[in-house]
Amino acid sequence: MTHTPAITGTGLFTPEQTISNAELVKAFNAYADLFNAENAEAIAAGTIEAKDHSSEEFIFKASGIEQRYVIDKSGILDPTVMHPLLRQRSDDEPSLMAEMGVDAAEKALAAAGRTASDVDLVICAASNMERAYPAIAVEIQKLLGIQGFAFDMNVACSSATFGIQTAADMVRAGSIRSALVVNPEICSAHLEWRDRDCHFIFGDVATATLIERAEDANGAYFEIKSTRCATEFSNNIRNNNGFLRRSRPDGVKDRRDMQFMQNGRKVFKEVVPMVSEHITNHIAEHGVQANDLKRLWLHQANKSMNDFIGRKVLGRAPEPGEQPNILQDYANTSSAGSIIAFSKYSDDLQDGEHGLICSFGAGYSVGSVLLQRHV
Ligand code: COA
Repeated sequence: MTHTPAITGTGLFTPEQTISNAELVKAFNAYADLFNAENAEAIAAGTIEAKDHSSEEFIFKASGIEQRYVIDKSGILDPTVMHPLLRQRSDDEPSLMAEMGVDAAEKALAAAGRTASDVDLVICAASNMERAYPAIAVEIQKLLGIQGFAFDMNVACSSATFGIQTAADMVRAGSIRSALVVNPEICSAHLEWRDRDCHFIFGDVATATLIERAEDANGAYFEIKSTRCATEFSNNIRNNNGFLRRSRPDGVKDRRDMQFMQNGRKVFKEVVPMVSEHITNHIAEHGVQANDLKRLWLHQANKSMNDFIGRKVLGRAPEPGEQPNILQDYANTSSAGSIIAFSKYSDDLQDGEHGLICSFGAGYSVGSVLLQRHV
């Protein structure tokens, strides 16, 4: 017997600290001045390139981002540090990712009127894992007191939607009753804050989504009508950090490629058509017209990118509220972005109305989740 999977609750953990574009640019420019002074001779000799200043106007115009939440701003804004400073945790305390994930997961359970005993599976789906093993998901499972099983998965920015497909398929097949898909994203720790091309891009957050059998829902829910995942290899978003680092020549050096790298222009140009086509084909397969989509909850990387996708999918400029952005406040939070938008802007959908979550990013990867509201 198969079951109908549904999203019955979401939860959001937002860090307390924020960094405005003004604070970010001030710190970056102080770092650039310091770098240029320290390397004056080599810059004059032409062996090192001087660092240009960043600009608030550029950041807002190019991305739509106004601020970001972070776990620690002190290190990021210190021109002599330029990365978050986190305290060492002992193996007996919860890891940071698990702590953030548990907060979001508890909120998702509360929103659905559920407790840990109702959950059979935890997936920790995120762009980076705090350690190799044991899986963060198993730690979240233990901290919440969940029976069953748990595992980590990583599809970069599409981790949440790919996780939702995995969980929804298991609910549909009957191997589990319900699953928590948890997305703790500490993007500030893999961002290169010393590179003006990307230093404004990311923020930290955690989201969680509870997926249950529709028949078990404790109130209003979103039926998962269908999911669609696609990948196509690209080096345009890449991070070379990994467990082979120590074994390679210069592997442990402070290397640019051990943090997030992207060719932003190419990503923009290649991903917009890929995503628009993906969404159009996905909904068409289910007999849903673009105009039947009450809402699009898109990946939150770039405002113009979302405007393009919305226009292409709907065949017209999206109405205000049809395609809510949260990136102005949160920046890009990788896999969590579309789930933040969904969790903040979905309650008002009426019975029978459709909406679609769509993530996209490194891989390349695209994941879409077609939903129908039941009140
Ligand atoms: N301040 C001032 N100028 C800056 C700057 C900064 N912080 N960063 C870059 N510039 C300069 C560049 O050096 C470049 O100068 P040039 O024309 O003299 O070479 C110019 O501004 C334009 O830079 P470019 O990188 O081409 O800007 P863009 O319009 O493509 O915007 C992104 C950059 C990253 C915002 C945009 O490409 C993007 O969002 N792409 C998609 C990213 C994405 O979705 N990634 C997924 C990540 S998971």
